[in-house]
Amino acid sequence: MKKVGVAILGMGVVGGGTYRILTENKEFFARTQDVEITVVSVLETNAERAKAAGVPEEAIASNIAEIVGNPDVNIVVECIGGTGAAKDFVLVSLQAGKHVVTSNKELYSKYSYELERAAKRQHVGLYFEASCVGGVPVIRTLLDGLQANRISSLMGIINGTTNYILTKMTEEGASYEEALKDAKRLGYAEADPSADVEGFDAAYKLSILSSLAFHTKVPFSKVVREGITNVSVEDVSDGKALGYVLKLLAIGKQSDEGIEVRVHPAFVRKGHPLASVSDGFNAVFVTGDAVGDVMLYGRGAGALPTGSAIVSDVIYAATHVDHKYSTFKNTENADKNVAFIEDYKSAYYLRISVDDESGTLAKITSVLGKNHVSIVEMIQRAKGEGKAEIVLITHETHEFAVRNAVAKINALGVAEIKSVLRVAS
Ligand code: HSE
Repeated sequence: MKKVGVAILGMGVVGGGTYRILTENKEFFARTQDVEITVVSVLETNAERAKAAGVPEEAIASNIAEIVGNPDVNIVVECIGGTGAAKDFVLVSLQAGKHVVTSNKELYSKYSYELERAAKRQHVGLYFEASCVGGVPVIRTLLDGLQANRISSLMGIINGTTNYILTKMTEEGASYEEALKDAKRLGYAEADPSADVEGFDAAYKLSILSSLAFHTKVPFSKVVREGITNVSVEDVSDGKALGYVLKLLAIGKQSDEGIEVRVHPAFVRKGHPLASVSDGFNAVFVTGDAVGDVMLYGRGAGALPTGSAIVSDVIYAATHVDHKYSTFKNTENADKNVAFIEDYKSAYYLRISVDDESGTLAKITSVLGKNHVSIVEMIQRAKGEGKAEIVLITHETHEFAVRNAVAKINALGVAEIKSVLRVAS
């Protein structure tokens, strides 16, 4: 039976989950995959944390050189995160001829071209299933399961922290601040939640997923990004009254005009499959020309779900002789021949505070009409003291047309746009 040695860098939540799966299921993998996988080394600055996870003292390395110089290590699993030491350690491992498995979306999104170059030079594998949507096997699905398809779109809820916060706001009427506090208490959100709530985490993942789906480099810098920090409970409940649920969506589309990639809050109709993806769950909805619609659903974070993705990659690296790399020229920048669409099309939700007097509505609809923004439905309620609030949903129109209309409506002197949110179709 083939024998394979693994080193794990970082014994935090994900490293600990990976260690547990590899050690507890060792015999199962030997029986089902015909490979004996042993964790031979672990790099963790906090030795107590490694020991608490069950790592024997003699397996705790004191530096990366011990790992890359160890002939018994065939696969290095990176669970450190960030782009500092993690990048150096991954590169040095690849250069030493080790296969690398990483859960690091920021690293892979920003430096895949450099890492892949190093992997190709040494003919070793570079696997990153755990970087996107934790335990949900979306990367293997795009690389292998859907390779017969030209993919026209992918749309997903790919950040659990923000999905938990928005679910709490939708179902319990909690404010953003209250929901964030609760997410921190439950360990969903970190002390500094900005990577999640500002949409960075989802944007890294979208750049990786859309590069794979569209077979061209989609750099992180091309992803339009807007987080959920400005979402108000009024918007959530107004949308709900109109039959919509607010989600932080990651959207990638490819057409003859080019590629659009964006992460922002968006309303989805209550009947849409993504509308019922609640709490910390994630889902990705992919449309291919042959298969039609496919939806993958599951846990996008956590020790064992993320460990599941890592260990699947470890087994893949251990049982394959030829390694698969990107289907596109993996460079730092996008291919010059690919256009990225900024003036994309969407339907919109607008909440407008207005002076409650005759002629106001006519002025607003005139601006919308001149900008080719057409209304689907609208509600108005009096707010007292001469004020009213209008909530409307538009037909599909262009982003720049809406921005132009918003600026003009604000300049009327009788209305103030309180919120502009997209509505997914
Ligand atoms: N922080 C991420 C989330 C998990 O909330 O989904 C890791 O990407």
